[in-house]
Amino acid sequence: MTKLKTLAAGIALLMPPLVMSQELKTADEYRAALQDKFANPATLIADRGESLFKEKRGPKNASLEKCDFGKGPGVLKGAFAELPRYFKDTNKVEDLESRIVTCMVTLQGFTEAKIKAQPFGSQQFNRPNTDLEVLALYIALQSDGMKINPPLNHPKEKEARMVGEALFFTRHGPMDFSCATCHASDNKRIRLQELGNFMGNQKDAQKTMSTWPTYRVSHGMVRNMQHRMWDCMWQMRLPDVDYASPATIALISYLTDQARGASLDIPGIRR
Ligand code: HEC
Repeated sequence: MTKLKTLAAGIALLMPPLVMSQELKTADEYRAALQDKFANPATLIADRGESLFKEKRGPKNASLEKCDFGKGPGVLKGAFAELPRYFKDTNKVEDLESRIVTCMVTLQGFTEAKIKAQPFGSQQFNRPNTDLEVLALYIALQSDGMKINPPLNHPKEKEARMVGEALFFTRHGPMDFSCATCHASDNKRIRLQELGNFMGNQKDAQKTMSTWPTYRVSHGMVRNMQHRMWDCMWQMRLPDVDYASPATIALISYLTDQARGASLDIPGIRR
């Protein structure tokens, strides 16, 4: 993080009224105005993630610096670009966030249930981004510019991707929605929000998956893919899905596989 970047982000944070006072006539203009990466408040939030990552914390008073995100203990560069993937030590396919939970438990001694009880920051409850969200952002940023390339060799990696695809098309809940109800045709939108087509339209999947984690202006927070899965399932009026559950990881495996080859351009920014 250069000082200049941090300064630019800081100034941007102080100036939202200026941005808003420009006359932005369409939703497209609004979105375009959000795209300035140096003004993305996520860059400031990532600094907190770096400190949290290196700080000795938890009952075991250890940092996360020995956590293996798939490329060896402590190697962050390029790790996010190859997630989700199979991990031998847990015998599971894990995405970035479930892997952070694993390391917070095994290295630092935190309790899984406690971490998962409150994984997201909440505007409603005046709770800022959680440690987990901020750590995920920091670690993901170490893969910025790299190509999305999750391994698909281990039987469990193949299984997760297949289960994710099946879940994508499974209708459930009181509204009888599946993900495909909203995300399986081109040029569909709800109000002013464009709905990505995640059924074989590689461009849409790439555009989305290469720009998460993202700063959500309307939430005033950084959001990761686990939050997006929870959010869409909430829109489907399903009960709260368990954080980093096999179902969410399977859906993320399916989406990430479709986005293969795109260069990560993070942090993204959304309305
Ligand atoms: C009722 C319609 C609806 C359903 C069903 C739905 N979504 Fe969404 N989804 C949305 C809306 C609305 C957005 C936000 C679009 C925006 O604000 O740009 C969104 C956003 C997303 C995004 C992020 C897109 C981006 O580029 O930021 C992903 C990924 C996603 N949905 C996946 C899913 C998955 C997986 C499911 C099934 C578990 C699902 N959605 C079910 C409406 C839906």
